[in-house]
Amino acid sequence: MSETLAVMIVYPIVEHINPFKAAADDYRAKVNRLTGFANNALKKHSNSIDENAISDYLTAFLHEQKSRNGGDGFTDPQLMRALLDFFVAGTETISTSTLWALLFLIHYPEIQKKLYDEINFISDNKESDIEWNDHTNCPYTNAFIQEVFRCRPVTPLGLQRMTAKDVELEGYFIPKGTPVMGNIWSVHHDPKHWKNPEAFQPERHLNEEGDFIFSNKIIPFCIGARVCPGEKLARMEMFFLITNLVKNFEFSSDPSSPKLPEMTDGVKGFLYTPHHYKIVAKARI
Ligand code: HEM
Repeated sequence: MSETLAVMIVYPIVEHINPFKAAADDYRAKVNRLTGFANNALKKHSNSIDENAISDYLTAFLHEQKSRNGGDGFTDPQLMRALLDFFVAGTETISTSTLWALLFLIHYPEIQKKLYDEINFISDNKESDIEWNDHTNCPYTNAFIQEVFRCRPVTPLGLQRMTAKDVELEGYFIPKGTPVMGNIWSVHHDPKHWKNPEAFQPERHLNEEGDFIFSNKIIPFCIGARVCPGEKLARMEMFFLITNLVKNFEFSSDPSSPKLPEMTDGVKGFLYTPHHYKIVAKARI
């Protein structure tokens, strides 16, 4: 299904013939369900808006909309669009990155052990739950997440954009209206920059002292003026997801399956996702 959608993104004209038509209808039905869900959330929030307790995006938007009398772009259709963006762009990306991360954990138990040791040390030395501030003391966790982003960017070709005017780039002429996609995958797997680029090695992001090295050559959120607006949130979400999952569970592969799930290839669609796999999550005592 997702391969069919990917073809339609590049060649929208095919949406009138099967199997693309069926996929497009299915997609529209899902978007309608999501719109219904967002509408219900909107109604609930509108009925109980407490201006002194702005606890989420929806309430903040409604508050702003009221104070600006619906001006400055604070309109109902804009709010609906933003809510759908949160769901579509903000959840599948995170859950897919987490699925890749779990897959690497079961393939490399020694990496999982190192992660656990670091996270356990941090959480043992504090009273409260893991907080965002802790990420500066988790070099191996940061290296692991950065390596997941490098090896398996969930949008290997970014999002399709279009040139707003004629452009000259590195000697190439790109006319106005040309669809353009950024090849994130090739940047992340460039052998000129990465030694053994196909290998999953969090250590490559640590220096000799064991400090984390942030790389601006790893661009899962793309770059430039239209970079993913959810980048900061996504980085925090990934940190909280990985630390809490590894702290509370030990992951291993399905014992009834003769081999480990496929890791070197995934499903290439709108997002690049792992093939379906089973996993055992054993609660740590
Ligand atoms: C691992 C997580 C995520 C990855 C890898 C990711 C990646 C990307 C990429 C590559 C783009 C295209 C940027 C470009 O064309 O330059 C994008 C766009 C976008 N992302 Fe994310 N994203 C993630 C999480 C999120 C989250 C958590 C949100 C919001 C809650 C979000 C909201 C958006 C939106 C609204 C756009 C479209 C922006 C536009 O059209 O200008 N993303 N994302």
